[in-house]
Amino acid sequence: MNLVLLGPPGGGKGTQAKRLQDKYGLVQLSTGDMLRAAAASGSDVGKRAKAVMDAGQLVSDEIVIAIIDERLDQPDMASGAIFDGFPRTLAQAEALDAMMARKGKKLDFAIEIRVPDDYIVERITGRFTCGKCGAGYHEKFQQPKVAGQCDSCGATAFVRRPDDNVETVNKRLEAYHAQTAPLLPHYDKRGALKLVDGTMDIADVTRELEALLDSTR
Ligand code: AP5
Ligand code: MG
Repeated sequence: MNLVLLGPPGGGKGTQAKRLQDKYGLVQLSTGDMLRAAAASGSDVGKRAKAVMDAGQLVSDEIVIAIIDERLDQPDMASGAIFDGFPRTLAQAEALDAMMARKGKKLDFAIEIRVPDDYIVERITGRFTCGKCGAGYHEKFQQPKVAGQCDSCGATAFVRRPDDNVETVNKRLEAYHAQTAPLLPHYDKRGALKLVDGTMDIADVTRELEALLDSTR
């Protein structure tokens, strides 16, 4: 099974992809995570991507399409992918359609996790992540069971993303509405778009997503 999670910054794509991947044997493919890893490596591409990400704009189609194209050829992709944050433009969606066809894979559906803009600043400015294993948390909505300690690996150092500030969030929301929202009709036209209400609690959103995935197996 291969599916795309669509939704605004802070909409819960990463949170839900991580919760679904083990149960369904799928691999989360987050272009945001891949670009942050490239930035941390200090490569030329990574440095250029970091400047664009910190400004809340989209990295070039050419770069992200090449990253996904290469990643899809790795052996762990045989069971399927949860695309998280890709595609984000019509050009990326068309490139994904073409590369899936070329690789003999099928995109089963795209799910919009719908969250209105007025939820987003609180979601994003409260987010933090384990510095060791990358598990995601929120100051109000998803606190570690023991304060200051990661539930998954026990580490005590947490990190925040440089683009998680109010100014950049507003730029990212603008980019979402202008460049990514047009993908909704792209998938709807072919009957591949599903909708989940992303304002529910994290566990309720997971239950709805699982019901959707189960109904197509
Ligand atoms: P990316 O990393 O993809 O960021 P994003 O799309 O802005 O999305 P986020 O990761 O911020 O949000 P999310 O939906 O994963 O929410 P999360 O689950 O963490 O991209 C970053 C940048 O990289 C882009 O701006 C761009 O520059 C570049 N980039 C990436 N892909 C690209 C592409 N394809 N093309 C071009 N450029 C690209 O949840 C957020 C918080 O809310 C967490 O703290 C979580 O605990 C909490 N939360 C989650 N769900 C709920 C809930 N239901 N109720 C309450 N709290 C919740
Ligand atoms: Mg994310």
